[in-house]
Amino acid sequence: MSDEAKKSDKATLRIWRGNAEGGEFKEYEVGTYPGMVVLDAIHDVQAEHAPDLAVRWNCKAGRCGSCSAEINGKPRLLCMTRMSHFEPGQPITVTPMKTFPIVKDLVTDVSHNFRVAKRIPPFKPRPRDADGHWRMQQIDIDRIQEFRKCIECFLCQDVCHVLRDHDKHDSFAGPRFMIHLATLDMHPLDTVDRRPMMKEELGIGYCNITRCCTEVCPEHITITDNGIIPLKERVADDFFDPVRWLMRKISPPANKKSLPVLPDPIKATTKTKKKQDAEA
Ligand code: SF4
Ligand code: SF4
Ligand code: FES
Repeated sequence: MSDEAKKSDKATLRIWRGNAEGGEFKEYEVGTYPGMVVLDAIHDVQAEHAPDLAVRWNCKAGRCGSCSAEINGKPRLLCMTRMSHFEPGQPITVTPMKTFPIVKDLVTDVSHNFRVAKRIPPFKPRPRDADGHWRMQQIDIDRIQEFRKCIECFLCQDVCHVLRDHDKHDSFAGPRFMIHLATLDMHPLDTVDRRPMMKEELGIGYCNITRCCTEVCPEHITITDNGIIPLKERVADDFFDPVRWLMRKISPPANKKSLPVLPDPIKATTKTKKKQDAEA
């Protein structure tokens, strides 16, 4: 099919353009073709109308997690959202993720997430068995396997109301890191006890299991039911069951080393789109 024939139908993109100081929506018309995704349309806008339009992407295959944005108000990957998903003739609105500070146009500063990641102590396995091997039950492997599909797109962080609406960046790690913590806590070989940290620093109590994060995850990870709820139960058992609490005080868990609670809360440093909208 020729390029002209491919682009016989038109679509209007309403894209937010601006930076941390402010911005506005601008409309662009592009041709459409079968199989086109929103990232293709953004690239056509760059090629035909606005070469300075900023968008972050890398794989165009739903693997790198770079192209996260909001399309008609819903957090989505630009490269995995087909244009045919939307009503023909209706403008498609594309905005940057609202929870993170704006860099330019559709690009946000997600470095806050990497600062949170750094604070979580890494996997530390127990010594190998006498024959030099580690042994695990298949059921334990299967349980955490789905969490390892995470592509770090941070769409779950974007949609979580604790971060998005209540700005608890300094006290709640967010759903992406709750499943990271679940991966570690449920790992049968790991020796580090991160539950005091989950309770005191990473704010697991803030999650009120609305499941919005699960709904937007492009990897279909059951973040809330399989990750956060079991973690909440483990933390509640350790700290609010009086018998378990007493046992923990008298004798900390044999295979998990207790960690001190660290100071230095997690800070968001620059202006988010939400703050910018509020000031406008
Ligand atoms: S379930 Fe918890 S982590 Fe997920 S969006 Fe709701 S409050 Fe946030
Ligand atoms: S859990 Fe899902 S939505 Fe959250 S960062 Fe990972 S892949 Fe993205
Ligand atoms: S460009 Fe890699 S996930 Fe979209």
